[in-house]
Amino acid sequence: MRIDVLTLFPEMFSSPLAHSILKRAQAAGLVEIVLSNIREFATDSYRKVDDKPYGGGSGMVMMPAPVFACFEQVRAQAEEPGRVILMTPQGRPFSQAMAADLALQPRLILIAGRYEGFDERIRLGLGAEQISIGDYVLSGGELPAMVVIDAVVRLLDGAVGDENSIRNESFSDGLLEYPQYTRPEEFRGMRVPEILLGGDHKKIEAWRQQQALDRTGQWRPDLLKKKNQETNETGV
Ligand code: ADE
Repeated sequence: MRIDVLTLFPEMFSSPLAHSILKRAQAAGLVEIVLSNIREFATDSYRKVDDKPYGGGSGMVMMPAPVFACFEQVRAQAEEPGRVILMTPQGRPFSQAMAADLALQPRLILIAGRYEGFDERIRLGLGAEQISIGDYVLSGGELPAMVVIDAVVRLLDGAVGDENSIRNESFSDGLLEYPQYTRPEEFRGMRVPEILLGGDHKKIEAWRQQQALDRTGQWRPDLLKKKNQETNETGV
C-alpha cells in the first residue's frame, strides 16, 4: 500500500512514523508513506499558501493553487489514482470500520490543512472524501492524518505480530474489549479472576463475551444500541 500525505508540516510526521508498528510496517515493505510539502508548490516569492476569505470573516483559508500543484505531482508518482481524503472536522466521523475499508485500498492520498480550512474548490476539484477524527477542532490535519495512518497500517496483513489480537480487540465486533490480566496472580490485593487461571477455554470465552457486553453497556451504551439495531436489521 502507498500512502501519500500532503501537508505544510512534514516534519511533524517523523517521530510517529519512526517507531513501533509504523516503523516495522514500512521496513517490511507493507506500506510506503510519502510526505510532500504543499509550500514547495506555492507560486509567489513569499511561498504564500493561504489568503483571506472572500466575503470577509476571521482567519485564513488554504489557497487552491499550491494544493492542486502538489496533488498533481504526487498523483503522477504512481499509477494507482488512490482514494483522496481531506482531513477536516466537517468530515465523516472516523471509525474502525472505515479503517478496515481503507486498509483494503492500494493507495491513499491524505491532505492535511491548516488555518480556517480549505478553499471549497479543493474538495470539489479533487473529488475528495472528508474524514474527521472527532467533534473537536485541532490546529491542523496532521495529527488526524497520523491517527488515520496508524489505525489503517496496523490492520495490514503482517503489521501486528499476532493477527488474532486485531480480530478480538475493541470495536472489531462492535463491542469494547474484555478485561485483560497478566502476571502476577495477585497485585496489591487484587486477584486475577479465578476463571482465567483454570484453563477451561469454553468457560473463559463465555466469561470474556459477557464482560465485553457488560462493559459496553456500562461505558458505551451507544455502541450496544447500534449493535442491537444492526442485529435486528440483518438477523445475525
Ligand atoms: N482538522 C482540524 N480538526 C480536525 C478533526 N477533528 N478531524 C480531522 N481533521 C481536522
